[in-house]
Amino acid sequence: MFEGLPLLPSDPILGLSVAFRDDPNPNKVDLGVGVYRNDAGETPIMAAVRAAEQERLRRETTKAYTFPAGYPGANDAANVLLLGADHPALTAARVHSIQTPGGCGALRVAAELIMRARPRARVWVSNPSWANHVPLLGGAGLALEEYPYYDYANHCLDFEAMFAALTKVPAGDVVLFHASCHNPSGADLSPSQWQQLTDLALERGFVPLIDSAYQGLGQGLDEDAFGPRLMAEHLPEVIVASSFSKNFGLYRDRAGALTLVSTNPTQSLAAHSQLLSVTRGLYSMPPAHGSAIVDIILNSPELKQQWQDELAHMRTRIQGLRKSLVEALAKHLPERDFSFIARERGMFSFLGLSETQVQRLRTEFSLYMTDNSRINVAGLTDSALDYVAQSIARVLQGADRNP
Ligand code: LMR
Repeated sequence: MFEGLPLLPSDPILGLSVAFRDDPNPNKVDLGVGVYRNDAGETPIMAAVRAAEQERLRRETTKAYTFPAGYPGANDAANVLLLGADHPALTAARVHSIQTPGGCGALRVAAELIMRARPRARVWVSNPSWANHVPLLGGAGLALEEYPYYDYANHCLDFEAMFAALTKVPAGDVVLFHASCHNPSGADLSPSQWQQLTDLALERGFVPLIDSAYQGLGQGLDEDAFGPRLMAEHLPEVIVASSFSKNFGLYRDRAGALTLVSTNPTQSLAAHSQLLSVTRGLYSMPPAHGSAIVDIILNSPELKQQWQDELAHMRTRIQGLRKSLVEALAKHLPERDFSFIARERGMFSFLGLSETQVQRLRTEFSLYMTDNSRINVAGLTDSALDYVAQSIARVLQGADRNP
């Protein structure tokens, strides 16, 4: 059976972690996979998560099945985290969420639901986008299209080109947006651009599918949810895939949520029932541990405050690293302007290097980033900054092949 299956190359993002692990160079720096690290280069368990985990162990008395949608408390809390308390869509009973195995699970379930509802709908994905959007959404059988997003020459969002392309999206198609901290560019939409896109979606009749994987790591929990909140208020239907991997640091526990905003309460119930039937056929019910932790944190005022403080610290550290990297690069490569890195948000930025330059950084300097020169800013440490900037400068200057 398997004899016809060819050997595949490793995953463009996850494969980097394996290569990094096996690299014996003591100076190696991992700016590949999007995982938050502290200044010691570690991804510690957040204190609020640790406390909630202990509380969970105390409370858990059985390993019997939970519920197909996950814990009701986690879903209610996820709705409020995403939309804010008293959001008009919540008061109008137009919102239903289910817990999912991470943001990936939410995206795949969303794609399966779209296939059920409108199999000929196309999903418009930003160019560039997170590499895994294509298999997650296209793997369900949906046809994908691209819209322009990033101006590589000027290192910024190309809103004009994006908007112009989306004016041609027909009614009933789906447009994938990144709520904040665009992956891979770090170039985000401003509130007024979200407003224009909301008006356009209303006029054209396309349905937004919003990937919210970094809420709280850009500008703040509320600021990073501006787009989903606006669209959920003004549009009849919105789909949001949330990940709790980054903002709760629950990567391996696979915690996330899929939120559907529907036209009215009756349709909301029907859509929710379809979601449960989709997930029953895929994995039956979501993993319980991570979402129980989210549930405990978001429903405890003390733990919620502690979690928000820790998240704010992470966000501030990333913002500080962005500035420090710009300064370090300016020192080693004054002829080139990297100031855009400090203007971008979240974990990622494109350095604007060629694939050959990225390969040289990997093989000659043990500096790991994805082939499109996306760096995980949160993977930098103060002690590595100078080495990173110097290595990039050497490769860009094409000089000194043996540092
Ligand atoms: C990333 O973009 O690096 C993260 O979202 C991790 C992943 O699964 O790709």
